[in-house]
Amino acid sequence: MSTRELLARGLARARDRTLALVEFDDAELLRQYDPLMSPLVWDLAHIGQQEELWLLRGGDLRRPGLLPPEVDGLYDAFVHSRGSRANLPLLPPTDARAFCRTIRSKALDALDRLPDEDGADFPFALVISHENQHDETMLQALSLRSGPAILGAGAALPAGRDGVAGTSVLVPGGPFTLGVDAVDEPFALDNESPAHIVDVPSFRIGRVPVTNAEWRDFIADGGYQQRDWWSAAGWEHRERAGLVAPQFWSADGTSRVRFGHIEELPPDEPVQHISFYEAEAYAARAGARLPTEVEWEKACAWDPVAGARRRFPWGATEPDAQLANLDGNSLRPAPVGAYPDGASAYGVEQLLGDVWEWTTSPLRPWPGFAPMIYDRYSQPFFESTGGGDYRVLRGGSWAVAGDILRPSFRNWDHPIRRQIFSGVRLAWSVEGERP
Ligand SMILES: [Fe+2]
Repeated sequence: MSTRELLARGLARARDRTLALVEFDDAELLRQYDPLMSPLVWDLAHIGQQEELWLLRGGDLRRPGLLPPEVDGLYDAFVHSRGSRANLPLLPPTDARAFCRTIRSKALDALDRLPDEDGADFPFALVISHENQHDETMLQALSLRSGPAILGAGAALPAGRDGVAGTSVLVPGGPFTLGVDAVDEPFALDNESPAHIVDVPSFRIGRVPVTNAEWRDFIADGGYQQRDWWSAAGWEHRERAGLVAPQFWSADGTSRVRFGHIEELPPDEPVQHISFYEAEAYAARAGARLPTEVEWEKACAWDPVAGARRRFPWGATEPDAQLANLDGNSLRPAPVGAYPDGASAYGVEQLLGDVWEWTTSPLRPWPGFAPMIYDRYSQPFFESTGGGDYRVLRGGSWAVAGDILRPSFRNWDHPIRRQIFSGVRLAWSVEGERP
């Protein structure tokens, strides 16, 4: 497939996802489900507005676009907080849909005329990534929606297998290549580059993420009452927010609400909707810790026999339904052990898809970082620029598109957040070695 065909396919797939998430009446699209999230109609028009900005206006807001400047400005995520967006004079749903259609048709014309210059295709990849990332955000919003379900129960998933929960694998110490360069991953985002060698001491890492059953044991063991297992900031937050279980769990830990469906809690599914602070407390009680994002990437991408990175944990094959739970159709994580063919070179499973995995790492640029055309994507959030209190999450969730996910992909959020599809995988230092 040519790059042009690949990009056209990526645009079409992202749009299919978006349209499926706004297949509701106007009143529904205008609702704000939670102050943490935008009304769906904001995401919809913002997707079109960003597509126009990067593909048709050269990333320059001073260049005129299809919308009057005062309307265009409503979709600037840096100006209008999520909580305030429902009160803005937003484009009505019909106009937002028409705007997105018009921009898409012009974007496809621009793709046809794309020059064969190095990097000319990058803005298209950026736009595909952006739209897919908003599709996940819209799924977060829909998971916070109250009332009877408007989404189905989700597509079927492969069965898990016994004997993998609670087990770990050793990743022997030694150098590996952290991050990627444009020569290998031309569509990687700025914070994933440049590739550089890092020496990582030996560590152990969970073969699979922590499950609901294991989390239930943590609760039964007094996990939310035992202050010793929590950091000072974590305990303060636990008390203030009154946390007693993952978000959407029933008080007795037997059922959950998932997109409006009340269902029995599946014991073998990775736990999701936990904050960094809860993940940290769980790890402390287990005599473990969270991995650093560098450890995580080594366990995911490094092939110690070849002495090289793999494009995906399992090798070079594009992700598919036998390898990982991605693309958002399942509406939930897959049971642990469901993807033995998706294991990394070290035998670590379910690294891509299922749940975002909290790491201990704050968001920092790799040495030699250079911002991409969308220079506000990562840079304002770096620890060094005073961007705020963030922890990196790795691996993507079931809601992430396979088209945009790589082992080097970095996500970040505040340590208290849990409306995201977040879970945890444990790590352990090996005696005498430091993380
Ligand atoms: Fe955005």
